[in-house]
Amino acid sequence: MIRIGSFTEYERKYDQSIENPQEFWTDYAEKFIWHKKWDEVCTGDFETLGVQWFPGAKTNMSENCLDIHLDKRGDHTALIFEPNDPQEKTIKYTYRELHTEVCRFANVLKKRGIKKGDIVTFYMGMIPELLIGIIACTRIGAAHSVVFGGFSAKALADRIQDCNSTTLVTNDGSFRGAKIIPLKAVADEALTSCPLVQNVIVVKRTNVDVSMKDYRDVWYHDIYPDVEDDCPPVSMDSEDTLFILYTSGSTGKPKGQVHTTAGYMNWAAYTLKNVFQVSKNDIYWCTADIGWITGHTYITYGPLLNGITTIMFEGIPTWPDPGRFWAICDKHEVTHFYTAPTAIRSLQAMGLSFVEKHGLGSLKVLGTVGEPINEEAWEWYNKNIGKNECPIVDTWWQTETGGIMISPIAGITKTIPTFATLPLPGVEPVLVDKKGEEIEGNPAEGNLCIRNPWPGMTRGIYGDEERFRNTYFSAYPGLYFTGDGARRNEDGFYRITGRVDDVINVSGHRIGTAEVEDAINQHTSIVESAVVGYPHDIKGQGIYAYVICTDDVDDFDIFQKELVDLINKQIGPIAKPGKIQITKGLPKTRSGKIMRRILRKVAEGDTSNLGDTSTLLNPDIVDEIIKGANNI
Ligand code: PRX
Repeated sequence: MIRIGSFTEYERKYDQSIENPQEFWTDYAEKFIWHKKWDEVCTGDFETLGVQWFPGAKTNMSENCLDIHLDKRGDHTALIFEPNDPQEKTIKYTYRELHTEVCRFANVLKKRGIKKGDIVTFYMGMIPELLIGIIACTRIGAAHSVVFGGFSAKALADRIQDCNSTTLVTNDGSFRGAKIIPLKAVADEALTSCPLVQNVIVVKRTNVDVSMKDYRDVWYHDIYPDVEDDCPPVSMDSEDTLFILYTSGSTGKPKGQVHTTAGYMNWAAYTLKNVFQVSKNDIYWCTADIGWITGHTYITYGPLLNGITTIMFEGIPTWPDPGRFWAICDKHEVTHFYTAPTAIRSLQAMGLSFVEKHGLGSLKVLGTVGEPINEEAWEWYNKNIGKNECPIVDTWWQTETGGIMISPIAGITKTIPTFATLPLPGVEPVLVDKKGEEIEGNPAEGNLCIRNPWPGMTRGIYGDEERFRNTYFSAYPGLYFTGDGARRNEDGFYRITGRVDDVINVSGHRIGTAEVEDAINQHTSIVESAVVGYPHDIKGQGIYAYVICTDDVDDFDIFQKELVDLINKQIGPIAKPGKIQITKGLPKTRSGKIMRRILRKVAEGDTSNLGDTSTLLNPDIVDEIIKGANNI
């Protein structure tokens, strides 16, 4: 199996992947178990939205994650579960044990009537049964849809209903630092508006009291003892849906990204192996939550497909103290550590005393993902965590791309702080200008697009082909538009500059401005609102809400709390605005469109160059907004 070993080999493989993708991917895909080989490597294009990878083939994801390793590496540790409470015992699963647990979970699902083609929603904390449960779905051909455990009842209900999911797997509660999140209670509230869900499986974790609805709700541990240890993997077509994962977009409705079986499997395995340069005894820790794509690809599928050890951490970086990440690295002799810039910045702010207690001698490669990393955080990570000896891979990718697209190859590509550097073989980035013309030559700056399909790409937005086309393929015909801006330096290295659409990246999580506005507009005193991002020292971006109210607000604190409560209810605490400004109006064009560019500039504190405001419908409002912002 391919593991690029030098920069020359990277260049050679890159050229091969672009000139002869059939040959490149055939070589790679041979390593998996196939029930039937593919007729072709890739067919279809962006134009027709009918991209297929390995059409004609049949395979099963769980078999390639687990069964494939049993003969030679059945006793190797597959999963290390590190609980929230450091006093609680770590749980380790060998590949053989994980295989048994996945088969049993699959049999529990079968016993509850779940079959190939069904969609199972997971709303859980970071415990082994989440990872086991989603792989169990792939074993029987059900698709999973994981909803992050920090989302509200309303957000959960929207995601269940959008894909007509009939089954929910949840926990009684989940541990997050000193808190217990009452997941079942939130799920119960969500289910009041999800009549299709007649099947709820509850995994006990926190022992908090829950109510169980007769016939609909069952405890996992009540069914588990009655099922067998083995469950044959179902043969899946290469393009059968593997999972759906929701992501925010520029409208209020989340988009269910559909990922399919064979292409995603290849992409997850290939990107992990090459970017991180893992070998068989490595201990790989990605600190994400499985509720996000990073946890799908780099906690679950990527590491297991490669037969290495993956760590799953239930807790948070700052509890019981801000040294927890580093304590876990030492405890389990982590070799590869992959986290978000937000986490790095928040731990950096706590001071070095929490780092210095830990040796961190096992680390070989560090990674970052989810948002641009600032130079200071990169240097801190490099010096204090990597001891200037671990290459840092700044990996750029998206829920839609399934896996890493632009990133250094650890130890092989030259790294430059803040640069995601070069595309992986198989990825052809293109920068386009405002007119949609491709910008050739270096240096360059423009909107980042991708030419040609790659195996891990999203195959659609669940149930909405028109939106899929409009969001990704209509701005620049023939190209996939990422929604990000980027710069390319003299050497062709890419630096991602951030979103160019109405999406805010808060702590590495994508939040659509429209989603937050929809929540705020539910408040009875709000006439209109506009939400933009502003630079935030720790979170990268914070949420800045401009609101127009019907009457004067008597008590701002109460008003603010009401808005935050609404947002918690509609979306979840991740969408809490850092700043709220009451204004009498919003700058609008003559056609009534809000000039967000001006609002963004004011939120950034940069009012030196607001451009020509005289053509606005209400030019005077700009000064008022600037004055108001100064008082926040
Ligand atoms: O804006 C880019 C940013 O995160 C977006 C994708 O978010 P999501 O689908 O939630 O996936 C996050 C995990 C892959 C991108 O459009 N982003 C992701 N990685 C980077 C990044 N921005 C800069 N540098 C990165 N390394």
